[in-house]
Amino acid sequence: MNTTTSDPIGFFDSGIGGTSIWQEVNKLLPEENTIYLADSKNAPYGEKSKEKILEYCIKNTEFLLNKNAKIIVVACNTATTNAINYLRENYDIPFIGIEPAIKKAGLVTKNNTIGVLATKGTINSKLFERTSNKIDNSIKIIEQIGYGLVELIENGELDSIKMEKLIYNCLHPMLKENIDALVLGCTHYAYLVPQIKKLIGNNIQIIDSGLAVAKQTKRILNTTGLINSAINEENFHHFYINKEGKTLTEILKNYNRIKIIEKEF
Ligand code: DGL
Repeated sequence: MNTTTSDPIGFFDSGIGGTSIWQEVNKLLPEENTIYLADSKNAPYGEKSKEKILEYCIKNTEFLLNKNAKIIVVACNTATTNAINYLRENYDIPFIGIEPAIKKAGLVTKNNTIGVLATKGTINSKLFERTSNKIDNSIKIIEQIGYGLVELIENGELDSIKMEKLIYNCLHPMLKENIDALVLGCTHYAYLVPQIKKLIGNNIQIIDSGLAVAKQTKRILNTTGLINSAINEENFHHFYINKEGKTLTEILKNYNRIKIIEKEF
């Protein structure tokens, strides 16, 4: 395959959560064409086996390669922590992954107590275990699975009473331990920052990996000579989703040149 700089950056996630990463990448690299796959039909990945997650990741990668993606951003912590090594070993294009930013949290905490909110699939993964083990062991890490959050976000139920209760249940054990930094280890959770802040106030720092992923994407595009420099009428952002695209449309309403394609895949 002959790759050109105007070929799109590919993104995939179990659903709409990875658009939080897409937004960071688009801010930093507005001249890039993009193609995003939301596998909402199979969300949440976090509750699936490693084998199943890998199977979805392979299918998503093949889909994006068929659309000429020049690089793939795995805009999902669960997919990254379970499948990125396999993808890098088996496909000949660069992959950018995302992992919970515990290293950064370790640098900002003052009382050496951090919380990590992530899916079951991420928390139970080997890659996450390895990253956690690299952190200075004077730092206490309180891990919490975000039970039910992804499903409600996919349904656009951000401000429901049900969401408020789930957030409380997830964060209460961490608050009891007096965390002063909270890592959002799932790309969907970026959409819960206002609701989380309402509960935790301003003294606990919320940390995600969006900007770091965008910077890394730019760096790799530069070093591989794949960066696109032209913004023109033909620039495109195609979003494929295998469920109803209502929440996705709402999230992307302020962006230009967006096309949302609801399609079985
Ligand atoms: N957005 C995902 C993540 O970053 C996956 C959520 C899920 O499908 O469980 O982990």
